[in-house]
Amino acid sequence: MPVRYYEGPMRPLLVVFAGGASGPWRIQRIDAVIGESLPITERLAMLEGEGTRHPAEADWVLRGVTSNERYVNEAERAALTTRQAGLDRPEATCAALIPIRKSQTWWELTQEARREIFEERSRHIATSLQYLPAVARRLHHGRDLGEPFDFLTWFEYAPAYREAFEELVGKLRETEEWTYVEREVDIRLIRDGHP
Ligand code: HEM
Repeated sequence: MPVRYYEGPMRPLLVVFAGGASGPWRIQRIDAVIGESLPITERLAMLEGEGTRHPAEADWVLRGVTSNERYVNEAERAALTTRQAGLDRPEATCAALIPIRKSQTWWELTQEARREIFEERSRHIATSLQYLPAVARRLHHGRDLGEPFDFLTWFEYAPAYREAFEELVGKLRETEEWTYVEREVDIRLIRDGHP
C-alpha cells in the first residue's frame, strides 16, 4: 500500500470516484453550490491505482490524480506535514467529496498571480491549517485528464467535527479564490454502519 497521507513529492496515484449502488460510503446529500449538480445516487466507491476500471454499474464516475504541490512554500509544507492526519482513521466516519472547476480566467493567470490570490489574499492554507489534524484531506487533479472538474477534493472527519468543517467550507467560499470557481458540487458521505 502506498503511503497516502502525505501528498508532496510522491508518484501520482490515479483515483476513481464511482457513484452508484455499491461502495463503503453512503451518500447523505449532493448539493449544487455553483453550476450544474451531479445525479443523486446511493453510494460511493473510491478506487485507487492504475489498474482501476470504471465500475460498469456506476451512475457517474469522476477521475483524478494526486500530484506535486503547486502553491505550498517551505514553511507551509512543514506546518502541513507536522499537523496533517492520514485517510482511513476509524473515527473519521464522515467524508466530503467536493469536485471543483475553476474558470478560464483563472487558468490564464500566471502561477505567481494564482499563488497571490490563493494564499496571500485568500489565506487558503493559513485558514485551513487551523482545522488540522481533525480533517484529513487528499487533493486530486482532473484537468489534464480532460475531466469535467479540475479538482476532486476529499475530506474525512469525525461526526463531532461536522460543524467545524462547515465553518471552514463557509470561510473558503467567501474568499477571492472562490470568485474563480465556476462549478462546485458538495457531496457528503457517511461510512457504512455508522449513523
Ligand atoms: C482541511 C483543511 C484544508 C487544508 C489544510 C487545505 C490545504 C490546501 C493546500 C495546501 C492546497 C495547495 C496544494 C498545492 O500546492 O498544489 C490546497 C488546494 C486546494 N484546496 Fe484546500 N485545504 C483544505 C480544505 C479545503 C476545502 C474544504 C476545500 C473545498 C471546499 C478545498 C479546496 C481546494 C482546492 C480546489 C484546491 C486546488 C486549488 C488550485 O490548485 O487552484 N480545500 N488546499
